[in-house]
Amino acid sequence: MPFIIERNDITRMRVDAVVNAANNTLLGGGGVDGAIHRAAGRGLLEECRKLNGCRTGEAKATGGYMLPAKYVIHTVGPIWRGGGHGEEALLRSCYMNSLAVADGLGCESVAFPLISAGVYGYPKREAVRVASECIEAFLASHEMTVYLVIFDRTSFEISSELRGEIEEYIDEAYVSEHEDSERTYRNRMAAAKLTLKKADSASKKEKREGAGAFAAECVLYDACEAPAVGPFDLDESFSETLFRRIDESGMTDVECYKRANVDRKLFSKIKSDKNYRPSKPTAIAFAIALRLDMDGASDLIKRAGYAFSRSIKFDVIIEYFITHGIYDIYKINEALFAFDQTLLGQ
Ligand code: APR
Repeated sequence: MPFIIERNDITRMRVDAVVNAANNTLLGGGGVDGAIHRAAGRGLLEECRKLNGCRTGEAKATGGYMLPAKYVIHTVGPIWRGGGHGEEALLRSCYMNSLAVADGLGCESVAFPLISAGVYGYPKREAVRVASECIEAFLASHEMTVYLVIFDRTSFEISSELRGEIEEYIDEAYVSEHEDSERTYRNRMAAAKLTLKKADSASKKEKREGAGAFAAECVLYDACEAPAVGPFDLDESFSETLFRRIDESGMTDVECYKRANVDRKLFSKIKSDKNYRPSKPTAIAFAIALRLDMDGASDLIKRAGYAFSRSIKFDVIIEYFITHGIYDIYKINEALFAFDQTLLGQ
């Protein structure tokens, strides 16, 4: 999964590089800066002293010392002063310059904190938006795993409007699921009585007209109970359906796996093994990348052995986005993260 939002302490991240939200002196401070310096040990400060500081928006690398990460990339975010002083452009520079430094060092994985969203006062939702946009733009043309590490729950917010709409949708789904199961239960009971009644009347009929009449009625009865089977070729595997759908969509393979937040290695594995069975989040991620409707998405994931359920919050959130025509997997993952759910991708 190229872009992962994760709740953690960045000093614990086992990645090639962690990014430090530093200040211009690079001589340590509070928040992430303090945590990284404490965890890395004195060697980090000694190396930082030689860097002669860092300008806001720029990024400089040092060793990771006692951190699990091999490198620390120090960047200095803008102090929020209302938004009219080029803060967003400077914050973007922090992400883009840090990613460029990580790329230059040959890093395969890098972890960011939410730069400027603490002491420097950048509005958290805006800070998340800028971080996501920059990381997505970088991943469109690079192969790397990038983590956005969220330290405390309050640091990560999706819009209250979106949260409200999703919560309402979840409630409706739970209610209709409950009513459906009630209705289904009543229908099954009614049907069972009907069958018994039919059997009774049919046995009399059989005596009069022979068994054919009863058998015909049963066929009619059973057909209305048969599960709806879409107009799909049930023998097609997940992988075969996926690649047929990619061809039909006109997308390239790269476009598809990037949109699915799946890395090239996993995609190649799916392509080379027609019976490969992905996880449910991966199967759904491809349905999102292909912009399938609920029927199409249900058919695709069914071939990996999964189904949507209106009593599973994760599924209902996905259904919300598909039925509202929102196929931006990063937006969907932000919402899934906000609701403590597994992210889409692999
Ligand atoms: N791991 C991950 N994220 C963390 C951690 C941690 N251990 N500690 C704090 N955070 C989060 C905060 O919750 C916030 O969302 O990092 C984000 C950035 O907060 P700050 O560390 O305050 O950084 P910033 O807002 O960029 O301010 C930088 O603070 O520490 C000083 O020396 C630093 O002067 C500089 C200023």
